[in-house]
Amino acid sequence: MDKLLIATTNEHKIKEIAAIFAEAGITDWEIIGLNNFPDYQPPEEDGQTFAENAMIKALAAAKMSGLLTLADDSGLTVEALNGEPGVYSARYADAAGQTHNDAANRHKLLSNMQDIPDGNRQAAFVCAAALATPEEEAFFLEGRCEGEIAHEERGSNGFGYDCLFYLPQLGKTMAELDEEEKNAISHRGAAMRKIAQIIKK
Ligand code: IMP
Repeated sequence: MDKLLIATTNEHKIKEIAAIFAEAGITDWEIIGLNNFPDYQPPEEDGQTFAENAMIKALAAAKMSGLLTLADDSGLTVEALNGEPGVYSARYADAAGQTHNDAANRHKLLSNMQDIPDGNRQAAFVCAAALATPEEEAFFLEGRCEGEIAHEERGSNGFGYDCLFYLPQLGKTMAELDEEEKNAISHRGAAMRKIAQIIKK
């Protein structure tokens, strides 16, 4: 069975992507993560956009592993904050002495949004996905999910900003959805279903 490398050590993300691929009918690939390459030093994600960072990660890991490699770079963009936290989503609260701490990131987001009224709290999760071969051939696709920033945390599923991301059409936050429901509407689900079609071809 051929191996497909997902360029992340985040087991939660690998599980999410594997479930989306299985549903899209991709069953003849063994999906592995960067935890299989403990000596690998990932490149610095110094791109200015999600797309640039996804491409940096996919190309470097494909070259290192010799495998077809998928990388995603995702995050939250909030209109009232001029697109913040954007490519800094994982590191949003780092300046406050925290290192990649989801709870601290959410706290900072809520405090930056405290004076923003309902009706002006639109946000989107964005996922840029890059598929690269060891020969440096690359494909790129993007998925989005629109929502609003809630006033307080709700729900306990998912990760990152999920419990603050309110979906008006469902009356729930992303953290109140189960995995299948999240994949059906999420930015990562949208991007990965498009990538699945490319892999199938
Ligand atoms: P990454 O670079 O794709 O790993 O994601 C960057 C950051 O964006 C994560 O640390 C999360 O804070 C946030 N993020 C990305 N996708 C999601 C999601 O599906 N739910 C909640 N937060 C997310």
